[in-house]
Amino acid sequence: MNQEFLDIPQLSAARGTVRLPGSKSISNRVLLLAALAEGVTEVRDLLASDDTERMLDALKTLGIGVEHLGGESWRITGGAGRFPVREADLFLGNAGTAFRPLTAALALAGGNYVLKGVQRMHERPIGDLVDGLRQLGASIQYLGNEGYPPLRIAASEIQPGPAIQVRGDVSSQFLTGLLMALPLTGQTVAVDVVGELISKPYIEITLATMARFGVHVEREGWQRFTVKAGSRYSSPGIVYVEGDASSASYFLALGAIGRGPVRVEGVGRDSIQGDIRFAEALAKMGAVIETGPNWMSASAPESGLRAVDLDCNHIPDAAMTLATTALFAKGTTTLRNIASWRVKETDRIAAMAKELRKLGATVVEGEDFIAVTPVERLVSPPEGIDTYDDHRMAMCFSLAAFGTPLRINDPRCVAKTFPDYFQRFAAVTVAAPVIAIDGPSASGKGTVAARVAQALGFSYLDSGALYRLTALAAHRAGVDWADEAAVAAIAASLDVVFTGDDILLDGVVVGDSIRTEEISAGASRVAALPAVREALLFRQRVFNTLPGLVGDGRDMGSVVFPQAQLKVFLTASAEARAERRYKQLIGKGFSANLSDLLADLRQRDERDSQRSVAPLRQEADAKLLDTTDLTIDQAVQQVLDWAAEAL
Ligand code: DC
Repeated sequence: MNQEFLDIPQLSAARGTVRLPGSKSISNRVLLLAALAEGVTEVRDLLASDDTERMLDALKTLGIGVEHLGGESWRITGGAGRFPVREADLFLGNAGTAFRPLTAALALAGGNYVLKGVQRMHERPIGDLVDGLRQLGASIQYLGNEGYPPLRIAASEIQPGPAIQVRGDVSSQFLTGLLMALPLTGQTVAVDVVGELISKPYIEITLATMARFGVHVEREGWQRFTVKAGSRYSSPGIVYVEGDASSASYFLALGAIGRGPVRVEGVGRDSIQGDIRFAEALAKMGAVIETGPNWMSASAPESGLRAVDLDCNHIPDAAMTLATTALFAKGTTTLRNIASWRVKETDRIAAMAKELRKLGATVVEGEDFIAVTPVERLVSPPEGIDTYDDHRMAMCFSLAAFGTPLRINDPRCVAKTFPDYFQRFAAVTVAAPVIAIDGPSASGKGTVAARVAQALGFSYLDSGALYRLTALAAHRAGVDWADEAAVAAIAASLDVVFTGDDILLDGVVVGDSIRTEEISAGASRVAALPAVREALLFRQRVFNTLPGLVGDGRDMGSVVFPQAQLKVFLTASAEARAERRYKQLIGKGFSANLSDLLADLRQRDERDSQRSVAPLRQEADAKLLDTTDLTIDQAVQQVLDWAAEAL
């Protein structure tokens, strides 16, 4: 996978089964409680991701026994309410599920610690948690801005009063952090929630996980939570982490948009995660949902998806998936009560609105809601979809590929919770097919490719034309064909429209002006410049739409569409090609000289096949079609026969 972007062809369907990675929320809670517990806990199916790595690293630094048993299994030897290392600096990246609970546990366990994260972590509020901990006597100092990490914790005497207060309307992670740490005080402490408690299902995960480790919290509505004196964590022995219900949302949505069924395994009806209720939201949009104790599946409705107006407070993370699913639903989808989006990995309301608009959707955003109205045909932004270092942005926007080929920038941010997301995505989706026809100049591949495209009802990409247009536009602008940066800038901003038979450059028909010998030579020269090829890459990939594409050029099968279902290397002897070109020129009323044409062709062959980037060569998986002794009809028929087998 490319580090900077991932290009996805337009998708036609989704179908299959995905075994989900472990839940991030449960993984980090289980790790912390195993560390606080007495005894040895074997954690199975732990999520392997950036956020869990931050927690594992921190626990190791704090002297907790952390042992990798291979695969997704870990052995944690708990410290029975104490961390052996009493002084440490911890770096917690952008892992809120590590930062908040560790702050609480370290503040109440006693010791001197500094907790830091990446810049974005330092912009995410933590003041309400710190206020709650200070009421218990904890000593916590802000090292940067008041109310935000980084923090310094100093050993202090913990003297819990009977009740403390914590705000519940910014992030449920504050209450989670406090509750998980309270048994360390050894006293009875009640927590009163001030303001409406958001994301209640996450508190349910916290309570269920604490119960698994032997601590039962008394709950009065969603207002008061009490941990009794003498509550102590003890290891339950082996703990299996459930699959991630938020991660399930992308695959269920794929099934709901792309026929399906797509089945996820690892979470189902019996899950303790609130995000499984995403399936209900999808059902409201019309999707056909089935559930078992440990699995769920989604298929598209016959009549298409429809918009919903939904309070999403109970599914804050999975609700993001509804925002991009809305691109395929009839009407305006409104997601309400999602103010917490603004303090997540990025301001998710702003980010979501901006990127959805780039696709052509109409978006209205408010402080705590977003409304999405789809557009008939999605547009693919040439600069790609930005992901804001937010795993969920990257995963949500992959769904948009049902509407258009798409470039996703910085796709590796999915590592936060789902490192191999895009491999799993590729495994359950069906992309618009490509037939890649490569070969030397004048081999007849353009004619063959266009005829094959017509026979199959596919679109046709004459990629050579893009290099020719670049050469022509550079020539007109007085830019030297050797000036790589300037020519690449021209390639990136070409105003081109392919209209069946004609090509418009800056709104004007180019006709044969890109086919002259001079421009042919220029095209071959600019095509050797790496920056020019890079600038034209996504322009070519956006042709990868439904129902399919036939592309001809030099690197269709090797670089632009390496996933092509059929690759053909179409060639003919240099003499035969020179003669065809000669007849073509004479036929059009130009004067021509056969031996000059042959010499030119050989020179261009040499340059196209000897250049360092994307040289012309037959790919190992390409079929050879030598047309020296074939008619056009015969060549077309051969490609169609191969296509019938391959597609
Ligand atoms: O296929 P054509 O003759 O129209 O191509 C014009 C030039 O562009 C040719 O010299 C090779 C170059 N080209 C390329 O490098 N890669 C492609 N995919 C297509 C063409």
